[in-house]
Amino acid sequence: MSFIAKLFGAKKSQSVIGVDIGSSSLKVVQLRRERGTAILETYGELALGPYAGVGVGQATNLPAAKIGETLVDLLRESTVTTKSAGVSIPFSRSLLTLVELPHREDAEEQKTVIELEARKYIPVPVSEVQLDWFILPEALPEGAPPPQKVKVLLVAVHNDELALLENVVKAAALEASFYEIEIFSTIRAVVDEPVKPVLVLDIGASATKVYVVERGVVALSHNIPEGGQDVTRTISSAHNLTMEKAETLKKEQGFGAHTDDSYTLETIQLVFSRIFEEAKRALTQYETAHEKTVSEIILTGGGGVTKELAKYAQSFFSIDVKIADPFGKTQAPAFMRQVLQDIGPEFAVSVGLALRKLEEFS
Ligand SMILES: Nc1ncnc2c1ncn2[C@@H]1O[C@H](COP(=O)(O)OP(=O)(O)OP(=O)(O)O)[C@@H](O)[C@H]1O
Ligand SMILES: [Mg+2]
Repeated sequence: MSFIAKLFGAKKSQSVIGVDIGSSSLKVVQLRRERGTAILETYGELALGPYAGVGVGQATNLPAAKIGETLVDLLRESTVTTKSAGVSIPFSRSLLTLVELPHREDAEEQKTVIELEARKYIPVPVSEVQLDWFILPEALPEGAPPPQKVKVLLVAVHNDELALLENVVKAAALEASFYEIEIFSTIRAVVDEPVKPVLVLDIGASATKVYVVERGVVALSHNIPEGGQDVTRTISSAHNLTMEKAETLKKEQGFGAHTDDSYTLETIQLVFSRIFEEAKRALTQYETAHEKTVSEIILTGGGGVTKELAKYAQSFFSIDVKIADPFGKTQAPAFMRQVLQDIGPEFAVSVGLALRKLEEFS
């Protein structure tokens, strides 16, 4: 160790990456912290479809070695310069439940109660999952008697899923210090509202993740097994177009004005209305149970980039709709701002992961 460097050399700030292993593509975002600001160093995305014999934008189910290989390609193509990573866990492979359990004054006793009770809520043997939980803080008036119950968020991830992710990380020679369920990464990157409940809709390729965030905590979450790939499939079959053509047209036009008769708005409305209908049920369930109204919807994920989708969503839900801008939490050259805003929703998970990773070095 050099004593001189320690005395005089400014500590070189650490670059970190967030790696989002989505069903249709891998995304990476590299950040560095400078004077309290997260600087965007590089980012990139690589579709998994071509590695799995399906089109870009379609979901895949590849083995770890293949995903690792793709990740190596992505890291090279995006000129990533660090191995220091945080990695996402798909929501569809995890279980989140908010439960009320008996309160115990003693922390050890509380832990035992939670771990015993958790079994009732997890539909697989506890030995097959990694279990995590945290107690939601509750503001009690001063002098109030100790509460009878505590609200606990139980989180379980299947061992197989974690093993897969660890193998991907190993194959790409990365060093991951944490794996985080994608929902939590997205919240860090896109939710700013501190108090009022907000609905997040992450429209991915294979699934749409719906969740209500209240005071930074997930109050309700739901996985809809439909997403962007279904939009493309529907355009393709309804209008007799190849999947490639349908995917391209969808990205070019979305819900926007059509210059030709390539596909009709009714075609994509068919899919989005089905997704939104299910999201609305989850929303109503939350609003009824908690006697609160959701004040805002945030659209994110690749499907959230769909042209004019916010307008359609707004008329569907009659709630203010905002499109996620995760790169807004980072500093980048001004000339890139527009592009970053346009593609932002796709990178919400990886930005959120990188932001958490940065905290390890602050
Ligand atoms: N400009 C666009 N307009 C419409 N759809 C788009 C656009 N860009 C990407 N998509 C769609 O978004 C989907 C991919 O989104 P995303 O990258 O969030 O998925 P993923 O993270 O791989 O999947 P999942 O989260 O379901 O595992 C694809 O189906 C793609 O066609
Ligand atoms: Mg995703």
